[in-house]
Amino acid sequence: MFLSRGAAGFAVAAGTMLLPAWARATPSDGSVLPAFFDAELGKEVKATEANIEGPFFRRNAPFRGKVTPPLEPGVVMLLKGRVWGLDTRKPLPDALLDVWQANKDGRYDNDDAAKPPDHDVYVNRLRLRCDEKGRYEYETIHPGSYLNGTQYRPPHIHYRVQAAGYKTLITQLYFEGDKHQEKDPFIRKSLIIKLEQAKRGEVSYETGTFDIVLAKA
Ligand SMILES: [Fe+2]
Repeated sequence: MFLSRGAAGFAVAAGTMLLPAWARATPSDGSVLPAFFDAELGKEVKATEANIEGPFFRRNAPFRGKVTPPLEPGVVMLLKGRVWGLDTRKPLPDALLDVWQANKDGRYDNDDAAKPPDHDVYVNRLRLRCDEKGRYEYETIHPGSYLNGTQYRPPHIHYRVQAAGYKTLITQLYFEGDKHQEKDPFIRKSLIIKLEQAKRGEVSYETGTFDIVLAKA
């Protein structure tokens, strides 16, 4: 295979950027995209795949760390991740996330044209800024599935990710093992994460990590 050096000093093979050995060995200390995106582990280093926006996005959701209102019914989920630049392999501080989702019954706050929400009331949505190491974290509940035409959409969370100098990414996050995934025409394998079970006292909740890699604008 023909190898050459890219502008950033990374080996470039047939248009695919691969991490050099020193980067693969570097621990996840916030300076270099860590090994879980490594080609050696079966994952090519590439930008996170886009996915359909759908009709339910609303601008200007409040900045907060919890998607859902207090005591929202459903299984609690804690989701976290980091936003990375594909070109630099470094975290993107201050990346801006919009997150929106259905409740446990598969309803969005704006899916009933006869009962639109007040303009300043946002349910099951947030915006947040990543920290100086590109990290984000929020609490929510496991979203429900909903009928789209004749087919149920598997549970998912919508993301819109922006960072200065990078292409805005609109995508969706899915959860391994849902029965509606097989027939869904929109889902992409790269956007499915595995959830872990965690416990606090007698109550259990789900945790998951979704890292995002943005392509340069
Ligand atoms: Fe949706």
